[in-house]
Amino acid sequence: MFTQDEIKQQLGIYAADFIKNDMLIGLGTGTTVYYLLKELGKRKQQGLNFTAVCTSLQTQNILKEEGMNFISLDYVDRLQLAIDGADEVDENGSLIKGGGGALLQEKIVEAAADELIIIVDEKKNVKTLGAFPLPVEVITFGWKQVKQKIESAYNIKTRLREKDGKVYLTDHQHYILDCFFNTIPDPGQLNNDLHLMPGVVETGLFVDMANKIITGHSDGSITVR
Ligand code: 5RP
Repeated sequence: MFTQDEIKQQLGIYAADFIKNDMLIGLGTGTTVYYLLKELGKRKQQGLNFTAVCTSLQTQNILKEEGMNFISLDYVDRLQLAIDGADEVDENGSLIKGGGGALLQEKIVEAAADELIIIVDEKKNVKTLGAFPLPVEVITFGWKQVKQKIESAYNIKTRLREKDGKVYLTDHQHYILDCFFNTIPDPGQLNNDLHLMPGVVETGLFVDMANKIITGHSDGSITVR
């Protein structure tokens, strides 16, 4: 039996094979992608040449440490490929993302990619999204209004995200409301509806974006769909 960390490491190495010389790629954020970044650092030393657009400062810092090239999204037209993790993946390939707080930049970067590959361990695959609290990024001004609106519209609880005893601020200086939906039968509709609420910047629902889901299993196997 492989540990979750070993599965993530295997996924990182597997996913690195999709990155070929001279590619322009988007790189995600999180503990699974961390292993991809480490593997790419090694391959860079061995001569692999690519340029990346990062989905967070965290990822950008790792690229810097590993001596890899990165560029702002504003200097590119399209990305050939993006690779990222996810918090949940449903049967249709819709995702919940943002557990690591980078949902806004992830969605912008990944919407600019011709292909999005998601790497997850098997525990993240679910029938219906929603057991993982849905991250919703909100403007700090008037955030309580948005919180109340979401809670009363869906009859659910939400929680302002904190980290190390302080309110969590995203790379773009916004708050995150973690929303306890429990079940999200129509992620596309919910994403659209949440976007209509003043103060909502982005949601962690990534619908019709992933082209390939690569799953790592505890027996060491990897499956692709
Ligand atoms: C960050 C994300 C991550 O992809 C997601 O939280 C999964 O992270 P991990 O690989 O650490 O489980 O969306 O905003």
